[in-house]
Amino acid sequence: MTEEAVVPALEMRHISKTFPGVRALDDVSLTVMLGEVHALLGENGAGKSTLMKILAGAHPKDTGEILLNGKPVHIDSPQSAMELGISIIYQEFNLVPYLNAAENIFLGREPRAKIPSFVDFRKMYADAQAIIDRLGVKLNVRTPVNRLSVAQQQMVEIAKATSRKSRVIVMDEPSATLTEHELASLFTLIRQLQSEGVSIVYISHRLEEVFEIANRVTILRDGRWVATEKVADLDRDQIIRYMVGRELKDIIPKAPAAVKEPALRVVHLNRTGVLHDINLTVHCGEVLGLAGLVGAGRTEVARAIFGADPIDSGRIELFGKPVRIHSPESAIRHGIGLITEDRKAQGLILGMAVRENTTLANLAALSRFGFVCRAKEREAATKYVKDLRVRTPTIEQAVQNLSGGNQQKVVLAKWLFTKSKILLFDEPTRGIDVGAKTEIYQLINQLAAEGVAIIMISSELPEILGMSDRILVMHEGRIAGELSRAEATQEKIMHLATGGE
Ligand SMILES: Nc1ncnc2c1ncn2[C@@H]1O[C@H](COP(=O)(O)OP(=O)(O)OP(=O)(O)O)[C@@H](O)[C@H]1O
Ligand SMILES: [Mg+2]
Repeated sequence: MTEEAVVPALEMRHISKTFPGVRALDDVSLTVMLGEVHALLGENGAGKSTLMKILAGAHPKDTGEILLNGKPVHIDSPQSAMELGISIIYQEFNLVPYLNAAENIFLGREPRAKIPSFVDFRKMYADAQAIIDRLGVKLNVRTPVNRLSVAQQQMVEIAKATSRKSRVIVMDEPSATLTEHELASLFTLIRQLQSEGVSIVYISHRLEEVFEIANRVTILRDGRWVATEKVADLDRDQIIRYMVGRELKDIIPKAPAAVKEPALRVVHLNRTGVLHDINLTVHCGEVLGLAGLVGAGRTEVARAIFGADPIDSGRIELFGKPVRIHSPESAIRHGIGLITEDRKAQGLILGMAVRENTTLANLAALSRFGFVCRAKEREAATKYVKDLRVRTPTIEQAVQNLSGGNQQKVVLAKWLFTKSKILLFDEPTRGIDVGAKTEIYQLINQLAAEGVAIIMISSELPEILGMSDRILVMHEGRIAGELSRAEATQEKIMHLATGGE
């Protein structure tokens, strides 16, 4: 942001918003300058996404006003926001699953051919590919979106928003699934947009990113404005104090596991073109970290163990006995749980209540003669809402009405309730605020202490290093190396993850 350009591009003044039972925003104001990257921070449920959905025309506001370049504007639909030059990358993606990447990027504004009402497909694919390439991602724009990984879908969202001639771009946790490399491309792109005078609202739970990319920050707590300051005037502890109103400890390192019996062994597992000769063992009470770049095959290993993807050869042993797991149902019966990174597609039934989602994977524990005992269900849901501090007015709230981070906590509650002996965590703290992260680490520690065997996939190196007893690093569908807790460093992991010997 250059000094002479300090003029407000966007002003949101005194915005309030109430949902049934929840005051999501209470008199919140936000000013974003021309060409500024403005970080919007706050705990899960603080109101960040709600404020941005109002800006994007996805929710009506109750009170307050919005100005663009000093002029009051009326935003009453996503269409009107788009016409005013406002783009948003939603935290929960908004892609059409059966269309391909290019069609999603240009949805509703496909390049026209010379013949009226025909789409110029060649131009569409070429333009879309150019945008994707500029982001530095490997991705064929003809791939249907439902076949892309979460990280790739994220990049399509980013491409979609940045390809429009937008004046204000909102990025609601764009980085949650990205690796260092993709994040670097995103930041390059943001700086370029910034130099073109585009204003960016950047939401993230990773404070390092805020220090790297943002000019100023606004912090919300419990739906209220707490502070707006220059990033240069703040440090990490101060930001956290504003966010949570208390001091916080960082990652609680996992207590080293006493070596116990092997719980799960994977032997010579292959899936053609995806996984090559995967061998691993995880013991009771142990946290085995699975590191690697996006696309290295970590999620695929978890899905193969869980019976969600077919395998071509190899075997799985549980407590010393070979087992055949051909579906998620049989995995669950064998005591295996998978906490996915993609809560929307795999973790939750969004239209159902917190109560029902919590007990979904283990109705057997509540049923007698085929009837679900509602009292027990309520009791379980109430316990997990309290233990995990899920921010919801009641356990009857539909999960889709919770904030992103709180939805992730419900996914966790669901798997904790299954009392699984083996838990596969795929990016367990994605989108979770700094305070709640510590709670999740504590919980993983506690599960391990109770003897649960845990495989944890994470792209956050401090998390992998802090929580794992042992770390396997994957590269291109293979296990590239193993590091003990004592020898592991960020550099060694990155070296193996990028194909170094
Ligand atoms: N459609 C809705 N219906 C009812 N309540 C809602 C709805 N959308 C959001 N809320 C509530 O409003 C509050 C603010 O949610 P919001 O999604 O804005 O939080 P957030 O700051 O984006 O959190 P996160 O970091 O977890 O994404 C939360 O208590 C949430 O449960
Ligand atoms: Mg949010």
